[in-house]
Amino acid sequence: MVAGSVDGLEADIRRIGAELAAAFPSAARHPLKTFDARAMDLAASDRELRAALFRFVDVTPACRSLDDLARHLGSFLEELPERPAPIAAAMRVAHTRAGRAALGAAAAAGVKHMAHRFIVAESPREALPALRALWEGGVASSVDLLGEATVTELEADRYARRCDDALRELATAARRWPSRPALEADSVGPIPRANVSVKVSALTPLLKPDAPELGRRDAEQRLRPLLRVAREHDAHVHIDMESLDSREAVLELVLELLSEPEFASGPSAGLVLQAYLRDSPEQLNTILAWAQSRRRTPPLQIRLVKGAYWDHELVQARQHGWPAPVFEVKAECDRNFESLTRRLIDARPDVRVAIASHNLRSVAHAIAVSRRSGGPDHDLELQVLRGLGDELQHALARQGLRVRAYCPIGDLVSGMAYLVRRLLENTSNESFLHEQARGTPLERLLEAP
Ligand code: 2OP
Repeated sequence: MVAGSVDGLEADIRRIGAELAAAFPSAARHPLKTFDARAMDLAASDRELRAALFRFVDVTPACRSLDDLARHLGSFLEELPERPAPIAAAMRVAHTRAGRAALGAAAAAGVKHMAHRFIVAESPREALPALRALWEGGVASSVDLLGEATVTELEADRYARRCDDALRELATAARRWPSRPALEADSVGPIPRANVSVKVSALTPLLKPDAPELGRRDAEQRLRPLLRVAREHDAHVHIDMESLDSREAVLELVLELLSEPEFASGPSAGLVLQAYLRDSPEQLNTILAWAQSRRRTPPLQIRLVKGAYWDHELVQARQHGWPAPVFEVKAECDRNFESLTRRLIDARPDVRVAIASHNLRSVAHAIAVSRRSGGPDHDLELQVLRGLGDELQHALARQGLRVRAYCPIGDLVSGMAYLVRRLLENTSNESFLHEQARGTPLERLLEAP
């Protein structure tokens, strides 16, 4: 690219970013101020607490009740060398059953407050009014049924059943939603209204790095029927990427299934690319080679994200003495995100592109690159997480852009790992939302990484 066009791109990004910021609801210029600021400050300031929370997540799949959760939380917090007063008080009560009940209730109240922001409802049926309201306001959704890293076949069956029900229920309800042209078609063709995100670790308890084939086969027998239901009901299935140790198995599973003649022309399906992984450019080569050789209709959608398992990947690597698979410097990750954005936009229409970020710079960059490529705005999808990107999603919708909110549905226990991921990533001092909440000027927020 010649220098002039780089400058031109930067000027476009500043202009688009400023337009979006101006379209934010004015009360929400600093979104985190309305979040649980004390919890965020606490977690941001205390590395040990972050580590304890992080390890706590590992045991949550095995917890059956709030009492269980409180017991585990108590034992992790016990290891903190210096305990902030509220935590010390919490721990004193965690030793007795009555105390745990109190801690469980207090934790539940705190978690409910946070959950209310991030989780739409306990069941798809209860979520339908909120999903419809989003749609009417110009925001599509992808429903994520909480529950991951299942430990038994029964749980995996139950998760598959919940996905199956959600696909049918959503597709049926969505047929009655009013028309929203910006959300339901791009240059390639129609885009399903019903959209469900699926985690392979919830579809099998056997997804282990030392026996990837076993997990893949077990997940396949539950994913295949879901793809059939999605095709039958005209719904989109998006396969989430989780931690690196399952990435190859998930990628192979999805590309293999979608290569079968049965799925050659549906359902609409997608995968995730995590830009915090140093080898994500090579990963994209693999995905694009597949997409270009298949020319599937509808095209595979790639959701580009930064990645939600950063702490996990670093701890894993340190434990094994491996080099970190993720970028440790935020600017490097942001630069990679932009480079992958450009490659994805160039790869249209062999793939559909979804850029998932709450970082105004990353979003403005994607819109600018897409427009400079000559593509219409409806060939680019922007995605945000429920509870973190609410203001941004409205700003994007007001500009007539195609935006989708990732909407978790489920109960608190199954949502715990999800909630802790949100807490960990957003209490990081480097988080964009943290910067924004600190009042960093817009020009700085929009600077090239
Ligand atoms: C997660 O579950 C959003 O898929 C992402 O953390």
